[in-house]
Amino acid sequence: MKTARTIVVGITGGIAAYKAVSIVRAFVLNGDSVHVIATEAALRFVGKPTLEAISRNPVHTDLYEGVSEVRHVTIGQGADLIVIAPATANSIAKLAAGLADDLLGNTILASTAPLVIAPAMHTEMWNNPATVANVTVLRSRGITIVGPGVGRLTGTDSGAGRMEEPETIVAVSLAVLDRQASAGEGAASAVPDLAGRRVLISAGGTREALDPVRFLGNRSSGKQGVALAQAALARGATVTLVAANLEVPVPTSITTVLVSSALEMHEAMSLAAAAADVIIMAAAVADYRPKTVQRGKIKKEDVGDTLSLELVKNPDILAGLSAARAPGQLIIGFAAETETDAEQLLALGRAKIVRKGCDYLVVNRVGHASGSTVGFGTERNAVTVLDRHGDIVNEASGSKMSVANCILDLIG
Ligand code: CTP
Repeated sequence: MKTARTIVVGITGGIAAYKAVSIVRAFVLNGDSVHVIATEAALRFVGKPTLEAISRNPVHTDLYEGVSEVRHVTIGQGADLIVIAPATANSIAKLAAGLADDLLGNTILASTAPLVIAPAMHTEMWNNPATVANVTVLRSRGITIVGPGVGRLTGTDSGAGRMEEPETIVAVSLAVLDRQASAGEGAASAVPDLAGRRVLISAGGTREALDPVRFLGNRSSGKQGVALAQAALARGATVTLVAANLEVPVPTSITTVLVSSALEMHEAMSLAAAAADVIIMAAAVADYRPKTVQRGKIKKEDVGDTLSLELVKNPDILAGLSAARAPGQLIIGFAAETETDAEQLLALGRAKIVRKGCDYLVVNRVGHASGSTVGFGTERNAVTVLDRHGDIVNEASGSKMSVANCILDLIG
C-alpha cells in the first residue's frame, strides 16, 4: 500500500494564488498529506477556509501562533517536498537571500526536503535583472523551477510570467518526489541531474490527411511523451516538445512545436535536432500517407461501394536523425509492438534498433482490442529498454511518469 507523503504547499501573494487550490486538491486526491502555509498577502487572494477544506488540514500563516510547537521546525522537518505556487518576485528574492521573516521562510530554511517553485509575475518583473539573478541562484542550489509559461496575464496583456498550469506543477512535483523516494532518503536524487542538457522529445500520433475533413491516425494519446517532457523538466533539462495531436494538455513552460502529419513532424524534428543533446522519439508516426489529398470532401456518390487508397511511404524520422546525428548526441527510439510473446517481442526490438541506428530502444507492447491497461491511451506503461547490442539495460512498469524517469536515468 502506498504510504502518504507530506507535501507542504507554500502560497505567496499573487493573483495566481487562486490556482493553488487546484494544486492542493490534486495532491490530496493523489493520497498525499498536504499542509498549506499561506503568506498574509496570499490570503488577500484566496480564503483560508477554502484552503483548509481542500487540504483537510489547518492552514498556517503566523510564525507567532503555536510557538510552543516550534511550528516552522515541525512542518519543515516533516515535509517530503515543499512546493511554492505561486512564487512571486518578492518571495523568490527572499528565497535567494535565505530570508526568514515569516512562517514560510522559516519553514523552508528548517527543511531538507526538495523544493519546487512555480514563479508567477508580470513579464517585466520576470525579466528584471534582479529576478533573473535570483532565479539563477535558486537553480544553482538544485531547486526545481517550473515555468513560468507564456500566455495571458492578469490584465489584458500577455507574455512570459504566467504561472504554469496546475496539472504540470503537480506532475513535476510528483516526479521530484518519486525520484527522491526511489533514490532513498537524504540522497542527492532531487538535485536536477539533467541541468544544462537540451532534450528534444516527440509525442502523440500523427494524422495523415485524406481530404479536408478526414485523416488516417493512430491511438497514441501523447501521455508517455508529455510525461517524459515533464520528468525531464523536473530534472532540470531544457525541453522542446514536438507534439502531434495530443490528448493531454501541453505544459505552457515547455517550448512546444505543434504539428499534425508525419511530414510536419519530420520538418520540426530536423530543425530542432541540431540544438539537442538528447532526442527521444516517443511519437507514433504514420509509416504511410495518402498519395494524394483530395481538395474537396470525398463523396460516396463519386466513389461507389469500395474505396481504395494509394499510400506512399513517409520518411523514417528516427532513422534519419540517427544517421545524421551530431557527435555526442544521444538518440532514443520507441518500438510499439502488438506481439504478445515476450521473446518474440524482444527479437522485434533487437531487429528494430539495428534498422533505426539509435542508442536505446524502448520496447512497449501496445494494443487496443485486448482491453489492455498499459500502452496507448492508458495511464500506465510497461517497457523494456534495449541498447545497441540488443542487451536489456532497463525494465520499468508503472505510471507513465515513473517509466519516464527510468528512461531518463539512461541519460542522467
Ligand atoms: N518512427 C519514425 N518515423 C516513422 C516511423 C516511426 O521516426 N516514419 C519512429 C517512432 O517514433 C519510434 C520508432 O520509429 O521511435 C519505431 O516506431 P514503430 O512504429 O514501432 O516502428 P516502425 O518504424 O513504424 O516499424 P513497424 O511499423 O514496421 O514496426
